[in-house]
Amino acid sequence: MKIFKSFKIKKIKFKNRFSVASMCQYSANNGNPSRWHYSHLAKLAQSGAGLLMLESTAVNSRGRISKKDLTLINKKNEIEFKKLVSFLKSTNDINLGLQISHSGRKGSAEIPWIKSNTSLSKKQKNWITCAPSAIRRHPKWPVPKSLTIIEIKKIILDFKNSAIKANRAGFDVLEIHMAHGYLLHQFFSPISNIRNDKYGGSLNNRCRLLIEIIKEVKKVWPKNKVLGARVNGDDWLKNGTSIKDCTYLVNNLKKNGVDYVCVSSGGIIPKTNLKFKPGYQVHLARQIRKMTGVITRTTGMIDSLNQANKIINSNSADLINIGRKFVQDPYWLIREMRRKKIKFNIPNQYLRCF
Ligand SMILES: Cc1cc2nc3c(=O)[nH]c(=O)nc-3n(C[C@H](O)[C@H](O)[C@H](O)COP(=O)(O)O)c2cc1C
Repeated sequence: MKIFKSFKIKKIKFKNRFSVASMCQYSANNGNPSRWHYSHLAKLAQSGAGLLMLESTAVNSRGRISKKDLTLINKKNEIEFKKLVSFLKSTNDINLGLQISHSGRKGSAEIPWIKSNTSLSKKQKNWITCAPSAIRRHPKWPVPKSLTIIEIKKIILDFKNSAIKANRAGFDVLEIHMAHGYLLHQFFSPISNIRNDKYGGSLNNRCRLLIEIIKEVKKVWPKNKVLGARVNGDDWLKNGTSIKDCTYLVNNLKKNGVDYVCVSSGGIIPKTNLKFKPGYQVHLARQIRKMTGVITRTTGMIDSLNQANKIINSNSADLINIGRKFVQDPYWLIREMRRKKIKFNIPNQYLRCF
């Protein structure tokens, strides 16, 4: 089956087309991976997928979603990430990716299981969030500060700095988060960006920061490693971005050396017209792949081999990203490979278990 054939991007070989999706754990200590991360990621590293994407990690402390986010900002963070990467690679032969991000106006939020979709109060030591424009994401959220040009330049350098650290920590893949309503998506979407300088207005201007970050990160991310972006295929709102805008962005990302895109959607405001159903974003990936020729990953409610196989065989995407299914049942893919008599390496310790 094509889905189980190895796949190469540059010098990095993926043993199949599956990746474990980035999933925020809100469990960091001072931005560093905690014991929870070791336990959670060790399981996922045994899943049989070709790539394990680590969760959204902030490039500066204002860019955290919550106080418990991972950050890759300082020397201590770098050392702790390096330890984690080395541990995961010692237990299994899997490529590891890191997603780096800035939350923008979605930051200073409470941890979701304490209170979902809520911003911190002053008593909880909230911080002032920032965005392209001073527009809140919802009446219950604070108005963010509109970024100055100097602050924008600093954020670009923060992405570059985290990329340097991610490389030194040993990651194979780096993904820039441009979706889900976070800062870069806020610049991309006219719902949140009403600037009248070179970072707002036309689509080209709204893409500018995203491209500038890629250009800067490219200077430090090794040429033989993989650089990707998670992009927004649709705002699911009348005046929001559409797949046409995303195609424009991805063509530009391609021109600037991005190796793959993961097409997601939604999140620019808490409630949109997005309807969740199996494979609800596959059509977006198919369109991006067709229009740009970029290696494309799809994501969202894909939870069977049959479904994944159809996506790959119909040329709708090159890679399949799965989140919750791997958490619920970390060995489902290994069982499927066993059933299909696909050759793969089970750890010696588990040879008698499958
Ligand atoms: C607990 C949880 C945390 C998530 N955190 C992130 C994240 O850090 N970055 C990101 O791009 N998407 C994040 N997502 C979205 C997932 O990567 C994925 O796109 C989404 O869950 C849909 O895929 P699934 O149906 O296979 O779970 C998260 C989803 C969940 C359930």
